Amino acid sequence: MTIQWFPGHMTRAKRQIEEKLKLIDIVFELLDARIPASSRNPMIDEIVGAKPRLVLLNKADLADEAATAAWSGHFRALGLETLAIDANGGRGISDIAPRIRHLLREQTERQISKGLRPRAPRALIVGIPNVGKSTLINRLAGRSAAATGDRPGVTKGQQWIRIGGSLELLDTPGILWPKFDDPAVGYRLAATGAIRDEILPVEDVACFILRHLASSYRGALEERYGLSDLPQELPDIPAAAEVLEQIGRRRGCLAGGGQVDYAKAAGVLLRDLRSGKLGRLTLEMP
Ligand code: G4P
Repeated sequence: MTIQWFPGHMTRAKRQIEEKLKLIDIVFELLDARIPASSRNPMIDEIVGAKPRLVLLNKADLADEAATAAWSGHFRALGLETLAIDANGGRGISDIAPRIRHLLREQTERQISKGLRPRAPRALIVGIPNVGKSTLINRLAGRSAAATGDRPGVTKGQQWIRIGGSLELLDTPGILWPKFDDPAVGYRLAATGAIRDEILPVEDVACFILRHLASSYRGALEERYGLSDLPQELPDIPAAAEVLEQIGRRRGCLAGGGQVDYAKAAGVLLRDLRSGKLGRLTLEMP
């Protein structure tokens, strides 16, 4: 595998986030509810340090509800306040403000005891590309305000977005890099669209995902593609490739000579997965 964790990128991103951290009271760590571990930057604890943090499991509308509950429990056990949200549809968004109040209660009490009027807390959203940072900023702001662009260094002048009287949000999120030298993490990131399709062979991604789907969501797979008698486990890549071939045949993904075009079949599977057509699913468990 040729993908690397670019230390230069990461150092720069880390420095930029650390600059922003000086300005804020609370960090929203945005994760993809379908891949909460794989969409997490492994240096996040080091980067955020002691700043109060709220873990937001975004795209919960696409994730398996029971799995999301298990992940929430997992993060809470690590001492992290956690909330499942759907930044697109708005679910869970109204719970953010009460969670912030809870997390910052000691700070607020300190301000009051010093005779100060507590000001609206300032927040920064951090997360890897495509996890929904801009969508969340826009949702919180109630308008299309967020700056997009996933490259560190393209940040324009920083501005605060006032959200009611209860929050001020930095308009540019902190962009973290995913770490995917573990192939399984790379496949999960590719499957959810967090990394570009060109980075990993799409057939490999599809076969990896098929193995997970066959063991955890077999019914959904059978129903969507009219398959029957799928084995309980796909023990290896050739077994998964056979299922991919069946999907390709069902969907008319054919190359010359009646052969199945595996890349096309993989594309069908991944599009269905990403758009929720295979139902709500989570690709890893705590
Ligand atoms: P980013 O700033 O972190 O890079 O992510 P961004 O907000 O641009 O969101 C990436 C994609 O994820 C967008 O899809 C967005 O609509 C979608 N998205 C964000 N939050 C949610 C959510 O809670 N649920 C669902 N289902 N989707 C969400 P897009 O514009 O269609 O982009 P793409 O899918 O074509 O990449």
